[in-house]
Amino acid sequence: MNQKHKKTSLQWLGIGLLITFLFPVACKKPTEEIAQKKEYAGKGKEIFINKGCVACHDFSGTDKPTGPSLKGVTKRVSVEWLQKWLKNPDEVKKTDKYAQELDKKFPTSNMINLGLTDQEINDIIDYLKWMDTEGSVAADFKPLSPEEFERAKKIYFERCSGCHGAKRWGATGPSLLPTSHIDKAKEIPGGGTREKGTEALKAIIWNGTPAGMPPWGKEGVLTEEEVELMARYVQMDPPEVPKLGMEEAKKSWELLVKPEDRPKSDPTNGKYLNYFGVILRDAGKVAIIDGTTKKFFSQW
Ligand code: HEC
Ligand code: HEC
Repeated sequence: MNQKHKKTSLQWLGIGLLITFLFPVACKKPTEEIAQKKEYAGKGKEIFINKGCVACHDFSGTDKPTGPSLKGVTKRVSVEWLQKWLKNPDEVKKTDKYAQELDKKFPTSNMINLGLTDQEINDIIDYLKWMDTEGSVAADFKPLSPEEFERAKKIYFERCSGCHGAKRWGATGPSLLPTSHIDKAKEIPGGGTREKGTEALKAIIWNGTPAGMPPWGKEGVLTEEEVELMARYVQMDPPEVPKLGMEEAKKSWELLVKPEDRPKSDPTNGKYLNYFGVILRDAGKVAIIDGTTKKFFSQW
């Protein structure tokens, strides 16, 4: 921003945008201590992840459009019902009232027959039962050290915040807050990363999902170690984004073009009506693009 030439009013617009959007993201030290939980010992969790149940279900207690939350499912239905359901959901839906009602609640998604063996079905049920007892209480993740937290925060800011929001409240992607329905984020469904657990989060971050989550691991953007780091990071409380008060904002304000030096008439002959302000987040710049020529009018 040390260009000497005079700025036009459009360039001013850009500077305004820059100030609004590129405020620094500082953070408080992660102070929380989370009790370690005994890892689930059976095979069910692995099957649950590998068979893709995680794509449609979680244990947050809030249903997703893709499928019901499985929190408390072993208290809602019997083991016999689950055995029949996991073997052949369509068959159950033909006669079972509960299944028919449930089906109506998810008009855009259906439980699919995954061709599970009886052994796999029993392993999954064992896991679902565990999630409704021991597994629902504590978190199965190792909190990050302050150094790890800083690394993860940087990766998050560069790769994830664009879709999940600077405060992890969600944007294009869902909220990644540790517990579901945190007070202030009520209007955005989601959250509950801690209840999903590290393994399920790792699988999502590594493989991506058809609904728009990129496959960070599979595409080689993040290493296995970084995927694990991020899976643990999203279970921690997000760093605080400091509020910039008017006083602080004014301190960093740099007057580049005095009011008397600004253009008195429109230098673009009305073309500015088709100009777009774009934030080049990765480059830390803002640009004005001419919508007719699709060329940069100006950037900082
Ligand atoms: C494509 C999305 C999808 C996948 C994959 C999927 N399910 Fe489902 N599941 C649903 C939907 C939707 C329902 C609600 C019934 C319906 O609409 O078919 C459901 C219902 C259920 C229920 C009953 C829930 C309740 O509240 O009573 C259980 C249990 C269940 N699924 C377990 C699983 C398991 C275990 C797997 C993996 C082996 C799995 N699902 C894979 C979408 C899915
Ligand atoms: C291009 C946008 C985009 C980017 C960038 C992105 N995500 Fe996502 N993410 C999504 C969407 C969309 C979903 C929801 C997918 C679904 O429901 O199947 C999602 C889902 C998730 C979930 C599962 C949340 C849940 O409640 O099921 C996690 C965890 C996650 N993302 C972590 C990350 C991390 C970590 C990064 C950065 C390394 C990242 N995401 C970057 C779009 C994005």
